[in-house]
Amino acid sequence: VDLRPYNSFALAVRARWFAELTTDEQAIEALNISQTLDRPIRVLGGGSNVLLTSDLEALVLHVRTQGIRILSDDGAQVILEAEAGELWQDVVQYSLQQGLSGLENLSLIPGTAGAAPVQNIGAYGVELRDVCAGLTALDCYSGQLKDFTPEDCAFAYRDSRFKREAGRWLVLRVRFCLSRYAPLHLEYGLIRQRLHEQGCTEPTAAAVSAVVCAIRQEKLPDPKILGNAGSFFKNPVISEQQAQSLRAAYPNLVAYPQAHGQVKLAAAWLIDQAGWKGFREGDAGVHRLQALVLVNYGQATGAQILDLARRIQEDVVERFGVLLEMEPVLF
Ligand code: EPU
Repeated sequence: VDLRPYNSFALAVRARWFAELTTDEQAIEALNISQTLDRPIRVLGGGSNVLLTSDLEALVLHVRTQGIRILSDDGAQVILEAEAGELWQDVVQYSLQQGLSGLENLSLIPGTAGAAPVQNIGAYGVELRDVCAGLTALDCYSGQLKDFTPEDCAFAYRDSRFKREAGRWLVLRVRFCLSRYAPLHLEYGLIRQRLHEQGCTEPTAAAVSAVVCAIRQEKLPDPKILGNAGSFFKNPVISEQQAQSLRAAYPNLVAYPQAHGQVKLAAAWLIDQAGWKGFREGDAGVHRLQALVLVNYGQATGAQILDLARRIQEDVVERFGVLLEMEPVLF
């Protein structure tokens, strides 16, 4: 099967075996088949956080389970559950239609509900871990279903237990703790600014969502039009000491203080400063509006994207002494 339609970079890679899942039972059946074939399983949700660099001698599972439901509602706090195959944006929209807040800052992130906890998606001051009430996953080692509390998920910045223990867990459904009243997250300056410009003095979750959608559409390429996997690198976290010496050399360094005396740098700024923004070689390039996003202009291969990523990494290390960690999962 040609995986081009199943990964947002639109890389033309083939899978030796391929199956679409619409039920839990099919997931367990697929597990048995992979054991019979003696081949590993590779799970694709929306394929929006993977870099496929070669044909896969694996059983590739495309998760398409559907369903979004309210599990409990005490009039203030609501637990919502979504099947892994639901598109993330459909979950966000469903929650907004129900008058719930919590997911609005995460509007328009590509991919599926099942992939959201794997990389702990985040944007505009909110991460999935802030709203996740737990999930159910299939243990591919034992064939058993397991419920995870948020603590069990071991979320970290663009990371989780499911990303670290790659190949073991197949997320089946995810639960969210949402609210009818919770305060909105307006820490991100541009969101406040846009709301202010609109004269929106008492913003709702839907208003925040609309602003987030507009900001994303301005800056981030639509994978349906231009292949990409969102941010290709994580924002690096360094010591305050290293940040200080960088600041001495680059007074306009973009840096955000973190807990434990650490500092998070804007990887986009580092790449931009190094002159890579808008760079293109063949069909692999760096987006002209967001230096953190690598793009496939059409016929690039995963290897070419990876090669470009490594050149950027080397250059940034040389200039700033900072190693940029890749964000997508390499297949
Ligand atoms: N900047 C540049 N050059 C650029 C782009 C940005 O210098 O080409 C500077 C900006 O001036 C800004 C700073 O870099 O001061 C940060 O940029 P931005 O606010 O656009 O966010 P980001 O740090 O580049 C992160 C997430 C995004 C998320 C945004 C908004 C990561 C790896 N990326 O990007 O997530 O949408 O914040 O919260 O944490 C993703 O993970 O795929 C993703 C898109």
